[in-house]
Amino acid sequence: MTDDPRQPWFPIRTKRLLLREARLSDYDDIHAYAVDADVVRYMDWGPNTPEVTAQALGGWVAMSAQWPRDEVNLVVELSETGRAIGAIRLSIQSKADRTADFGYTLNKDYWRRGLATEAASAIIETAFTTLGLHRVYATCDVRNAASYKVMEKLGMRREGTLLKNHEVRGRWRDTHVYALLAQEWAARRAESV
Ligand SMILES: CC(C)(COP(=O)(O)OP(=O)(O)OC[C@H]1O[C@@H](n2cnc3c(N)ncnc32)[C@H](O)[C@@H]1OP(=O)(O)O)[C@@H](O)C(=O)NCCC(=O)NCCS
Repeated sequence: MTDDPRQPWFPIRTKRLLLREARLSDYDDIHAYAVDADVVRYMDWGPNTPEVTAQALGGWVAMSAQWPRDEVNLVVELSETGRAIGAIRLSIQSKADRTADFGYTLNKDYWRRGLATEAASAIIETAFTTLGLHRVYATCDVRNAASYKVMEKLGMRREGTLLKNHEVRGRWRDTHVYALLAQEWAARRAESV
């Protein structure tokens, strides 16, 4: 996206959510989940100290002054309350291959309501339709069923499992790789109409 002259493709409104850039005033909401051991169990970060959350949030806010850019971190805001309940990221990994990856995190109080699927679906739609990407992928710890269920629900294919590819908290982690092609997304959309 660095040579993309278009306007930013966010904020995005979905049925229940607003995906928007972070503000420093989101600190309390973001730290509330970033400090939760259940939320970060399969992540390669956290649980955060207040300083680490402040630094991460400050980085996102600073990044929002730059456009175009390849990495976009958006806050997942629940429209009903205006609370920042999580975050979702889309990163262009190869412009030549029109490929991006994405990732998501939600506050535990909001799990299992279809909200991650709703947010990720909007990001994938944007990736293929607005950004014209060809391939979108996501990875997760093999033990992270909640994460790969979201990917499967979105129609992503498990392309493989990387063995002990990432060292997290002193332990080698196995990682599933899921992906989706623009043509697969379009076929799915056509089926659901
Ligand atoms: C992964 C995460 C974002 C999923 O969010 P969510 O909003 O609860 O997911 P959804 O409600 O959209 O669920 C999608 C599907 O996954 C299933 N699912 C959700 N949590 C699950 C769990 N713990 N175990 C098994 N299946 C689960 C849901 O049942 C649903 O399938 P269904 O509609 O057929 O029932 C959330 O669990 C989370 O924030 N986890 C911590 C951070 C994290 O691990 N992020 C991913 C890093 S790779």
